[in-house]
Amino acid sequence: MIQLTDISKNFGRYQALKHINLDIPSGELVALLGPSGSGKTSLLRIIAGLEAADEGVIHFEEQATNDYGQQVGFVFQHYALFKHMTVFENVAYGLKVKKRKERLPKQKIREKVQELLQLVRLEEFADRYPSQLSGGQRQRVALARTLAVEPKILLLDEPFGALDAKVRKELRRWLRRLHDEVSVTTIFVTHDQEEALDVADRIVVLNEGVVVQEGTPDEVYHHPNSPFVYNFLGDVNLFKGRLERGKLHQGLCEWEISGDLERQSEAAVGFVRPHDLLITRDLTVKDSVPAWITYIQAFGKSVKIELKRQDSDEYLEAELSREQFNELQLQKKELVYIKPNQLHVFTPDDYSI
Ligand SMILES: Nc1ncnc2c1ncn2[C@@H]1O[C@H](COP(=O)(O)OP(=O)(O)OP(=O)(O)O)[C@@H](O)[C@H]1O
Ligand SMILES: [Mg+2]
Repeated sequence: MIQLTDISKNFGRYQALKHINLDIPSGELVALLGPSGSGKTSLLRIIAGLEAADEGVIHFEEQATNDYGQQVGFVFQHYALFKHMTVFENVAYGLKVKKRKERLPKQKIREKVQELLQLVRLEEFADRYPSQLSGGQRQRVALARTLAVEPKILLLDEPFGALDAKVRKELRRWLRRLHDEVSVTTIFVTHDQEEALDVADRIVVLNEGVVVQEGTPDEVYHHPNSPFVYNFLGDVNLFKGRLERGKLHQGLCEWEISGDLERQSEAAVGFVRPHDLLITRDLTVKDSVPAWITYIQAFGKSVKIELKRQDSDEYLEAELSREQFNELQLQKKELVYIKPNQLHVFTPDDYSI
């Protein structure tokens, strides 16, 4: 368990981290997610001991050795390999520079490096130099090099930031498997919500130096506690209205909401994900709104549909499964009716946290 209590960090007069409290259970894969400048790298560097906090304490349970450097493995946002060393030598480095009495015999080092290269699927690249590798391969070497010294805690700062979408996806699947194989507590920084939702056991959402929400991917995605988290975790449509008798009222429409049905508010905003926006041609569907289809993006497993409301010129985004789409045979420029299912409503009270 890593326990952060009341961590604050200032750079001059700028407060980059504000009273961070966080418990990270051993063996978990945790994503630190937040926009650029929210404090992710600062927090990671403090956990790594590379930077001191101005306030607060960090407590590490199960401290097996006093040598802090050995416990924490760090892969930086901009990774660097030793250029003049081969892949093999890069991975072996941490093992070779250990004090003599802790150092493994040569043959054992060799075996361990082979094992790690197998783990990162680079066995055949052992004799290459970093300049002869692709970005994704270099990144995997950096990970293997960090894992070689068996850190108890693995800290990764946007390790896949510089790579293309497909390689990123492959590597994050791979990171998930790796994490499950070599039980290590991993904290993984990203500003990519899909990446976080996809691999993490738990997500910590940071904004402006504050932890705004933490929970499982399911919790933060389906039960965001603020408009910021809702927006940050996925595409969203907004419906402004009045909250009364457990419904959001807009014009003549009344829509069902999720959550607290007792709340009242003159000003409320309903949030709905694109896949929860119903599209129909049936104008008798109660509480539906007419909208023009302005764009259809039909590749992939689901179909994305952009619409423009007839009454307000606001744009909306819907997402249908391919089956639903084929059944409806929707056309661009067609007038259809939309209705939000399960609005998640925030009122001005929620904004002023
Ligand atoms: N050494 C420093 N001196 C002054 N300000 C700093 C320093 N390091 C970070 N900051 C500021 O602290 C804030 C948080 O920076 P940090 O690097 O932690 O953000 P981040 O969430 O990692 O962003 P990114 O996604 O862009 O990497 C930023 O506003 C940044 O400008
Ligand atoms: Mg950063």
